[in-house]
Amino acid sequence: MAKLAINGGEKVVTRPLGKRWPIWDETEEKALLEVLHSGRWWGGGEGSKVWEFENVFAEYHNAKYGIATNSGTQALINALKGVNVEPGDEVITPALTFFASATCALFINAIPVFADVDPNSYNISPKAIESAITDRTKAIIVVHNGGYPADMDEIMKVSNKYNIPIIEDCAHAHGSEWRGTRVGAIGHIGAFSLMAGKSIAGGEGGIVLTNHEKIRENLYAYMDMGRWTERPDKSIRLPMTSNFRMPEFTAAVLLSQMSRFDDQVQTRERNFSYLAEGLKTIDGIEPFERDPRVTRWSIYYWNFKYVQEKFDDIPRDKFLQAINAEGVPMGLGAHGAPVYRNPLFQSITAGNTWPIKYPTYNKPLDYTKVYCPEAERIYRTESLSISHPIFLGDREDMDLIIEAIKKVRSNTDELR
Ligand SMILES: Cc1ncc(COP(=O)(O)O)c(C=O)c1O
Repeated sequence: MAKLAINGGEKVVTRPLGKRWPIWDETEEKALLEVLHSGRWWGGGEGSKVWEFENVFAEYHNAKYGIATNSGTQALINALKGVNVEPGDEVITPALTFFASATCALFINAIPVFADVDPNSYNISPKAIESAITDRTKAIIVVHNGGYPADMDEIMKVSNKYNIPIIEDCAHAHGSEWRGTRVGAIGHIGAFSLMAGKSIAGGEGGIVLTNHEKIRENLYAYMDMGRWTERPDKSIRLPMTSNFRMPEFTAAVLLSQMSRFDDQVQTRERNFSYLAEGLKTIDGIEPFERDPRVTRWSIYYWNFKYVQEKFDDIPRDKFLQAINAEGVPMGLGAHGAPVYRNPLFQSITAGNTWPIKYPTYNKPLDYTKVYCPEAERIYRTESLSISHPIFLGDREDMDLIIEAIKKVRSNTDELR
């Protein structure tokens, strides 16, 4: 009789693991009603919830300035404009990330250039960045994949050597730390998503952080209709842009979410560390070797590795089907295939496909020729991930995950 649930056996996990996300209580209810009853629904200016959130969030991430906006995608676009990226400029971005880390460049008619990732962290490789730099490179986007900080020491060395600004895409990494400094303020700009699934959730929303005064001015103006807070003539609206402001109601929810964030980070870290210990004894399942410079690891999803040769040669996708059938929600992390494989990129050519219509790029633009071997290998055969709300449960949840993986491991014959 079959043992594995995928073949009709009993599941190991028969109840939901972790917590349902997002989490809220009367704190959010009170904050929302407060905004409603105040009649101050516009987030501009001192004393608003948006203003308060910008300050609280920036301080929490060791940054001088925070400028809220309406999504993480927009935060990335604002960031590119913040460092003056223009049409035809090249922007280096990792191959393994969410689509928006690359499409942010397309939106302003800049050219995404994909760099391969480091097999130990799944983050953009500093060496690959350096080989992708040309005289047109105007920004480098670094994604802290899943929440695991990229090697900011090496990345800042490359940035300083070539004088190219770093935009940290921190959509997964709220509260993570590299050598004691929170991500988002180590590079020139940090861009965060605050949509409903993220570890600080406002429904939709984003924020950019910076320590640089001049960049802050650009970021602010681009976010808010070309307004510039310090400009004496308030009628001047430069650059040409739109309204990307965060709604006041969103900021009220975000401030409430932040009040329980530290506890959640601790709970997750305690649980995934326990899980990592338990998984070490299972052949073919390999948690990351944690770099000691990662002083705080706040996750959106927890990435780990599957090694087919050590798992009785069962392909990763077969394992994934079997473990999902046992009731363990597990995925591939990094949002699936390398971004350049998306049909949007596969069909772009300079000069005749929206959004790239920049006629003087003068270089072949053909993403069908791009191939990043590590990103491909990781995506096809190796990456596994578990999402952050699962780690908000207790130790028993982790034990169930370990038990389910061990069960699949001992019954690989059923998967052949
Ligand atoms: C790495 C990364 N960057 C940017 C974004 C875009 O954020 P948003 O969905 O808030 O626009 C996401 C969203 O999942 C993301 O994962």
